Formats: sequence, C-alpha cells, structure tokens
Amino acid sequence: MLAGKVALVTGAAQGIGLEATRLLLRNGAKVSMLDVNETIGKSSCSSLQKEFSLSDVMFTTVDVTRSEDLVAAFERTKQMFGGLDIVLNNAGICIELKWKKMIDINLVAVIEGTKLGVEHMSTSNGGKGGTIINVASMGGLMGMTFAPVYSASKHGVVGFSRSLRELAQSDGIRVNCICPEFTDTAIVKDGMSGMNEETKARVKNLEFLTPEKVAEGILELVTDTTKAGAVMTVTIKSGIDYYSMLGDPKVTKAEV
Ligand SMILES: NC(=O)c1ccc[n+]([C@@H]2O[C@H](COP(=O)([O-])OP(=O)(O)OC[C@H]3O[C@@H](n4cnc5c(N)ncnc54)[C@H](O)[C@@H]3O)[C@@H](O)[C@H]2O)c1
Repeated sequence: MLAGKVALVTGAAQGIGLEATRLLLRNGAKVSMLDVNETIGKSSCSSLQKEFSLSDVMFTTVDVTRSEDLVAAFERTKQMFGGLDIVLNNAGICIELKWKKMIDINLVAVIEGTKLGVEHMSTSNGGKGGTIINVASMGGLMGMTFAPVYSASKHGVVGFSRSLRELAQSDGIRVNCICPEFTDTAIVKDGMSGMNEETKARVKNLEFLTPEKVAEGILELVTDTTKAGAVMTVTIKSGIDYYSMLGDPKVTKAEV
C-alpha cells in the first residue's frame, strides 16, 4: 500500500512511534526514525532492520527541540531514501515540573516538524505533496486536572493541525492530528507522578489502548486521502473515530 513512500517519525524509539514505524514498514514504506533516546532508538532500529530489511529503516539521534538537528535529520532522510512523503510528529513527554521543556517538545517541535514537512513536500515548492500527522491526545480536547500544561500543549497541537486543512489544496499536503486516550506506554508512568491518589487509583483500573491500536489509526490517516484537518480520536469505547466541533457546522462539514 505504501511502496515507494518515505516516512519520517519523531519519538520512534518506543511506544506509539515504534508501532507506527513497524506498521508503515509492514505496508511497504521506508522509515527514518528520530529519537533523543539513542540506546533504545538504535536497538529498536536494528530489530526492525532484522524484521524487514537493512535498507528500509534508519535511526538518527535527534532532540526535536534542537532546530538545527531536526533540519539536518529531514535532509538526511531525503538523501538516504530519495524523498519524503509522510511526517509523523509524535515525540512527546508528560512531565509537569518541566513545563517549558514540555511545551517545546509537545507543541513547538510539532510546529517546527510540520513547517519542515511542508518545506520538503509542498507542491508549490516543487515537491510531490504528502501527509503530516501530529500526535495530540484526548487531553487536547478536554482538561486534565493532573497535567494542565500537557493538556494545553495538546490543545495547541489540535488547533494548529485543524487550522492547516487548506494546505491540502494549496500545497498538496494533508495535515491531520490524532487524539488517543490512555495508551500502554512509558509516558504514562511520568504522567502518573502528577496525579493525586484518587486519580492514580482510577487510572490504574482503566483499560489502556495498545500502541498497536493507535498505530492503526495513524495508518488510516496516512492512507485515507479524503481527510485534511481532521481530528481522529482513538478510545477504548469507540475505537477509531473522528471528532467534530459541535456548533460549527461549516467546520464539521469541511473536516469529516
Ligand atoms: N501513552 C499515552 O497514554 C498517550 C495518550 C495520548 C497521546 N500520547 C502521545 O503519544 C506520543 C508518543 O508517546 P508514547 O505514549 O509512545 O510515549 P513513549 O514515552 O513511549 O514515547 C515517546 C518517545 O518520544 C521520545 N522523545 C521525548 N522527548 C524527545 C525529544 N526532545 N526529542 C526526540 N524524541 C523525544 C522519547 O524518547 C520516546 O521514545 C506523545 O506525543 C504522547 O504525548 C500518548
């Protein structure tokens, strides 16, 4: 389905980014994995090279908040794989005590990654067009009492991504975002440190999504060419679904 396509995935060492990488590879894409965690990133990449092919996946150590490194990683991806068609801005943290850093990773770097994606793929720049998926969260659609800055950063990702739906016409680039609820990955442990005992107990009893399920949603956004500016939700109750802003029929119609 994605043969000949090249994807760049941030935060690809583990969790949702790793499972999205695996699914993109399974569907024939080549994937450039970026992550600040060099040890886990290299080890995940070498497992994927054994599972798929040495020449289909590569890893670069990148802190997404370092603009020059992000710019260089986009260039390297294009040089190694001969193009760029899919950008998944996925790297994120949930540490309220490091709130400025969190906004830099969860929101500023997503904006930067989107801008770089547009620069490289835009048809008005001589590119072939493409798709950009920004990973937000259900916390980007509702408040999170234990993680207000995380929630703010993810609201930012949702608003930013929705606002770019016209790039589909002007630049041949579909920008969408995905809002998963609690998913069984490492980030949850950090998020739990900000919870009071009652919330912790409630969260421990919740059923968590698997990162594989979220990756399925990401693949749907990559392959469904009918949506731009759409906000996908992934929840235990409703599975993969789309969010529409109630009371704004024009936007709702344009989105889904
Ligand atoms: N797990 C959940 O419950 C959940 C729910 C909704 C949204 N999300 C979002 O999904 C995305 C992926 O998170 P996950 O659940 O897979 O967690 P995770 O902790 O397993 O993965 C996050 C990855 O991002 C990387 N990363 C962190 N800071 C980075 C930086 N500065 N530069 C480059 N890489 C960096 C980490 O090293 C890690 O590999 C995040 O944006 C997160 O906010 C997670």
